[in-house]
Amino acid sequence: MNEHILTTPAGETYPILTGAGLLQSIGTRLAEIAKPCRVMLVTDENVAPLYLDTVRDSLASAGFSVHPHVVPAGENSKSIPVLGELLEAMCEAHLTRSDLAAALGGGVIGDLTGFAAGCYLRGIRFVQLPTTLLAAVDASVGGKTAVNLVHGKNLAGLFHQPIGVYCDTGTLNTLTPHTLADGAAEAIKTGILGDGALFAIYESGDPAQSYEEIIARAVAYKAKIVAEDPTEKGVRKLLNLGHTAAHAIEILSDFSVSHGHAVAIGTAIVTRAAQKRGMLGSDAAARIIYTLRRAQLPTECPYTAAQMAQIAALDKKAAGTGITVILPVRIGECVMQKMPLADLEALFSDGLEGQS
Ligand code: GLY
Repeated sequence: MNEHILTTPAGETYPILTGAGLLQSIGTRLAEIAKPCRVMLVTDENVAPLYLDTVRDSLASAGFSVHPHVVPAGENSKSIPVLGELLEAMCEAHLTRSDLAAALGGGVIGDLTGFAAGCYLRGIRFVQLPTTLLAAVDASVGGKTAVNLVHGKNLAGLFHQPIGVYCDTGTLNTLTPHTLADGAAEAIKTGILGDGALFAIYESGDPAQSYEEIIARAVAYKAKIVAEDPTEKGVRKLLNLGHTAAHAIEILSDFSVSHGHAVAIGTAIVTRAAQKRGMLGSDAAARIIYTLRRAQLPTECPYTAAQMAQIAALDKKAAGTGITVILPVRIGECVMQKMPLADLEALFSDGLEGQS
């Protein structure tokens, strides 16, 4: 079992636990940080048959009054109508400010539940119970919550930190190779940003035997960044490595390219662009592309630079007429580069050159 404590500058402190079997004991774990209360337990139709009963029974045994709420699986549940239904369900369950929500699932469930918890009654507490590798290594930590709007991804949301994150590594056993690869993309991203040992697990190790270490390392890096900059005014922007192109690819594909796969393509694009611009050595660039591919991730982009740049102009990472892009300078270090939105197409063009 690995435990990490995240402390924000505002003094919010929460535990991030990683280990096998955490869902079975979630009731007693949660009772360590919250008195028995009502819990809106949010999950999706894929996860409910696997873990809903386990979590509900464990919470009930510890004295919590559990109100399950199951939404359709998939990105379409990150929407205003599904958010509205969840908020109404919270009212129907008579949740008060001393109650809490629990997100049992992947990034979609975490983002949706966190947003609902952040705005219901102007904010109630919530916990994250990630059941995918992507949610465990990235989305469940740091308090970013959102739903998508017709005009783009994550355009309505707020920062709302959970009061605890419990990553049960046993849940990874039921994931498809495609879903595990989604998580690998965010873990490799973290390795490129600041953890060479994490990168090495994917470059030459056996990730399937190392999930507890992968999650612990990714969480430790992310917690350090979030502790410094919880609302992404500065250093947290680094975590968006590959994400400007990725969000454009997700939208252009009508979300048929999943988030992690899009992040892999986006990371390959900024890697090639950094190499072309003399910021990253060809050896390091080749190692990044090789490592993404070794994790069964795509590195080739089916869209043009112009198509992606047009979508990226609407990205929430844009500020006025500028945008901050993240470029790798070596494995374990990236830099932020502010550029006019008008220059993004040229950057993407550089990143598309040399695709095999
Ligand atoms: N997924 C990037 C972040 O949480 O900042």
